[in-house]
Amino acid sequence: MSTTTTYKSWVLNEYVKGELNKDNFRLVEQPLPKDIPTNHVLIRTLYVGFEPAMRPSISLGKSYREPHPLNTPMWAFGIGVVAESKSSRYKRGQKVVGMLDWSEYTVLPEKEVWPYDADVGLQHLSALSAPGVAAHVGLVAVANVKKGDVVLVSAAAGATGSVAIQVAKAVGASRVIGIASKSKCQSVLDNGADACVDYTSPNFESDLRKATNRKVNVYFDNVGGKILDAALPCMAMFGRVALCGMIAEYNKIGADAAEKFGIKNLIVAVSQSLTLRGYVVIKGLTPDDDLRRANRELTQWIKEGKIKASIYDFPQPGIEHCPDALKGLLVGQNTGKMTLRIAKDAREVLAASSSKL
Ligand SMILES: NC(=O)c1ccc[n+]([C@@H]2O[C@H](COP(=O)([O-])OP(=O)(O)OC[C@H]3O[C@@H](n4cnc5c(N)ncnc54)[C@H](OP(=O)(O)O)[C@@H]3O)[C@@H](O)[C@H]2O)c1
Repeated sequence: MSTTTTYKSWVLNEYVKGELNKDNFRLVEQPLPKDIPTNHVLIRTLYVGFEPAMRPSISLGKSYREPHPLNTPMWAFGIGVVAESKSSRYKRGQKVVGMLDWSEYTVLPEKEVWPYDADVGLQHLSALSAPGVAAHVGLVAVANVKKGDVVLVSAAAGATGSVAIQVAKAVGASRVIGIASKSKCQSVLDNGADACVDYTSPNFESDLRKATNRKVNVYFDNVGGKILDAALPCMAMFGRVALCGMIAEYNKIGADAAEKFGIKNLIVAVSQSLTLRGYVVIKGLTPDDDLRRANRELTQWIKEGKIKASIYDFPQPGIEHCPDALKGLLVGQNTGKMTLRIAKDAREVLAASSSKL
């Protein structure tokens, strides 16, 4: 039994309008549960991952996620170690993954926990979590990417974009072009893109037209706003646009309509016979077969070394920094998946063949 008697979690204090700040959340301390229910495990959190989708879920504006309930721990997918078990599937000391929240400890039913695979490692939070699955489903199931296609990816240095580039290559795209800010373009090229266009340049639109030669068969859009608007005129006839996310617009949820970006080039969808399709990788909204295929192929490609999403380890570890990590993600501090070490010994525990508590 652990000697710890209390643990800390961040709960949502209030719904957010515009940019978030630390007061939107509240750090609470509570006693560790003494009795956990049958078929449940108590998990000590090692790492959690941060998602842009956390931002819409803490506002009351319309989005694809229900507003997160006030005064409850913020959600996050994470890696942990079983501290107490009343489950026949998981034993004390076993490393696991699941929805561990912004919390040092979480009790979960065994059916909501999965074993941690050391060959996958931190990619559990990235290539094998929402970003990687969204990259695979968007390209393969939504945009039906084919061998020889020209593929364009925005937010290409991020967790989702970096996997999208590698998935496009894995399925045989002839040319893959990323869009990112200048300082992140090298990482886009390192991930296998043939070219990277800096969207912060004053010549962004003409640079994009040159890099794509207006022959994009598949555009994987993570950003929306002016980037989507600039990409539309670069599409080839019968092009497909997978609308994965609109990170440029998330801080405007709940803001006045005048602050939101109005797409001007949508008429190209008519002249080029384009298909634009949005999707969300949540069970029930994406067919199970597509989710299963994504998990199967991504696991295989990770183990074969074909896919490796970049991981950004937030510089200050500890539960205290959860709001800072989310804030950092929303201003692009991270190159790759934003992760936070909740337990200061997380690296050692993951490296050890048998876990210590
Ligand atoms: N549909 C789904 O089921 C699903 C699942 C997961 C993720 N997503 C979506 O995928 C997108 C990316 O998520 P992620 O987890 O990859 O995030 P991430 O790792 O934080 O990467 C986001 C990237 O976006 C870029 N960015 C931020 N603001 C921008 C702006 N205004 N214009 C252009 N680029 C901007 C940043 O890089 P720069 O420094 O280059 O700006 C950053 O690297 C989000 O829209 C998210 O909602 C969707």
